[in-house]
Amino acid sequence: MDKLHECLITLHNLVAPNHYRMVLQSKEIATQSLPGQFVMLEVSPGYYPFLRRPMSIERIFSDGVSILYKVCGEGTKILSTLSTGEKINVQGPLGNSFPIPKEYSHYLIVAGGIGVAPFPALVEGILKVRGIAPEIILAGKDFHHLLCEKDFRQMGCKIHLVTEDGSAGHKGLATDILETLDLPDSTIVYTCGPLPMIKNVHKICEQKKWLCYASLEAEMACGEGVCLGCVIPAKMEIENEMMARVCREGPVFDTQVILWDKIGEK
Ligand SMILES: Cc1cc2nc3c(=O)[nH]c(=O)nc-3n(C[C@H](O)[C@H](O)[C@H](O)COP(=O)(O)OP(=O)(O)OC[C@H]3O[C@@H](n4cnc5c(N)ncnc54)[C@H](O)[C@@H]3O)c2cc1C
Ligand code: FES
Repeated sequence: MDKLHECLITLHNLVAPNHYRMVLQSKEIATQSLPGQFVMLEVSPGYYPFLRRPMSIERIFSDGVSILYKVCGEGTKILSTLSTGEKINVQGPLGNSFPIPKEYSHYLIVAGGIGVAPFPALVEGILKVRGIAPEIILAGKDFHHLLCEKDFRQMGCKIHLVTEDGSAGHKGLATDILETLDLPDSTIVYTCGPLPMIKNVHKICEQKKWLCYASLEAEMACGEGVCLGCVIPAKMEIENEMMARVCREGPVFDTQVILWDKIGEK
């Protein structure tokens, strides 16, 4: 499979409590990747854990990509023990990418917690295609969970910080800020984060008539559209069912396409 690459880990840092950035060297992945795509990591060469772990591509460099991840279970715990200089098997890039239509005048990103991971690459993409720095609502539980703020500022983005405990920026939720923003009709919104946040971002965008794209998650096995392990209810037809594969038709979806009433929340 030409999607499998043995990559050197050239950097692996703790960036916040329980959160790491890993840089993977691979010219092939770098040259094929688009903002919004993801990779599947074989966190251990043995049979445990059996499945690869999907991670968004955070940034695309000339000779590799970075990922930003949160340790939440066995797989990510093992991943966090790997050192710079070790190799890891990486499948990718996979999935579709964020569209960057040229007719929009305003680009807004709503990121919650580790959901920020695909957005540094998107900001760089929008800067390249449109020469415009997107505005960002960057939300997290507390100030530790506001990741990539410095990178976004260096890229020239206007940022609204939001924390649930009020330790930085507005105390509350990302959607509090989204509701108050007075932006033109030609605004396009991109979002990723906890499902309840994405659902509310979708509702607000519907009211404001803003086009909204969300990067969604689902548990994955093959990552390439074969096993149907990652399907979500959607206004799309696959094998006579109204569904979409997050790994193939997604992970980025126009939020109008998702059958939100039929999606459960973890
Ligand atoms: C397209 C995509 C992009 C993602 N990007 C990122 C990212 O950039 N950074 C990040 O921290 N996390 C990301 N995730 C979530 C990440 O894949 C899971 O947190 C991770 O697989 C958990 O593995 P674990 O073994 O530590 O946890 P466990 O809970 O032990 O995992 C058990 C199984 O569930 C799967 N799983 C558990 N939680 C999730 C989840 N939320 N999404 C998908 N599969 C899950 C695992 O792959 C594994 O098969 C992404 C998920 C998807 C689908
Ligand atoms: S993970 Fe197999 S079809 Fe999506």
